[in-house]
Amino acid sequence: MAVNLRDFFIALSENKVLIAGAQKFGLRLGAQSVVAGTNVDEVVKTIKRLNNQNISCTVDNLGEFVFEEAEALEAKKNILNVIEVIHAEKLDAHISLKPTQLGLNFDKEFCYNNLRDIVGTAHKYGIFINFDTETHETLYESFDLMERLHEEFDNVGTVIQSYFFNAQENIERFKDYRLRIVKGAYKEPADLAYTDKADIDANYLKLIEYHLLHGKFTSIATHDHNVIAHVEKFVKENNISHDKFEFQMLYGFRTEMQEDLATQYNFCTYLPFGKDWYGYFMRRLAERPQNMELVVKQVFNK
Ligand code: FDA
Repeated sequence: MAVNLRDFFIALSENKVLIAGAQKFGLRLGAQSVVAGTNVDEVVKTIKRLNNQNISCTVDNLGEFVFEEAEALEAKKNILNVIEVIHAEKLDAHISLKPTQLGLNFDKEFCYNNLRDIVGTAHKYGIFINFDTETHETLYESFDLMERLHEEFDNVGTVIQSYFFNAQENIERFKDYRLRIVKGAYKEPADLAYTDKADIDANYLKLIEYHLLHGKFTSIATHDHNVIAHVEKFVKENNISHDKFEFQMLYGFRTEMQEDLATQYNFCTYLPFGKDWYGYFMRRLAERPQNMELVVKQVFNK
């Protein structure tokens, strides 16, 4: 049953008609509790509140699977604006972006140029840019673009998804980068990725340990208390300094746990905002159908 629900919400997340429809409305269906608003002013308020709690932020100006040049240029303009605001307001924040938002699906060189403008501007201000990883279809193109930019700028890093059979190869390729390690959020074919939760979890711990021991900086991005407990024990046993890693969670999930971890470790909240909330929100429902609570609460509060 859980597997069917996952497929159902993932299919909804990719439905172009629903994506376009949702853009016309403000945040709906309970998305308000996990998306920090639709404009920059709203997100800045949230960053300031979280920074006061010793929580840094990675800001995602929502958007993905873009197929029009004008839309990609609009996304670039919006991300550049967030970078300027982070700098001007001296916020403890960096950027997460999706390369398909900037044209990767239709013109790789155009996408590279958009990314270069973003990474170059952020580099001037010492702001880190994370390339979120999407499906296997764009994974290696995204890695290549990031690697090419890394030759010029050192403020880029990416994400390793533990459900892929070759995740270990991916992590070794980017050993010298700042990496976020996750389980993986998309539906991938069974000849490329583990589908069994126990396999994904076991690989996840292996990758985290590898990067903590050999890598530059590790962002452990999970809401899974078992993984967090494992990491806490592992860093203690291996004398890994607290400045070599952080925990990350998504805005609106396990908030008390986020605040508590921030009193002991570096902690970063992933803060999505903008009008393209729909695909992001559907993937959160796919990951954990209990997140439907958010929808139900919203419907009954009205
Ligand atoms: P998982 O969903 O496996 O849950 C494990 C257990 O934790 C549950 O059984 C439950 O006990 C507990 N739990 C989880 N959520 C809970 C909640 N809300 N309340 C109470 N208990 C809860 N993916 C991707 O493919 N590319 C990317 O770039 C990113 N980026 C990213 C950034 C950040 C900051 C995060 C946190 C996640 C991502 N992801 C991602 C998503 C990631 O791949 C994954 O799909 C989700 O984090 C879900 O997996 P978890 O490890 O959080 O726990």
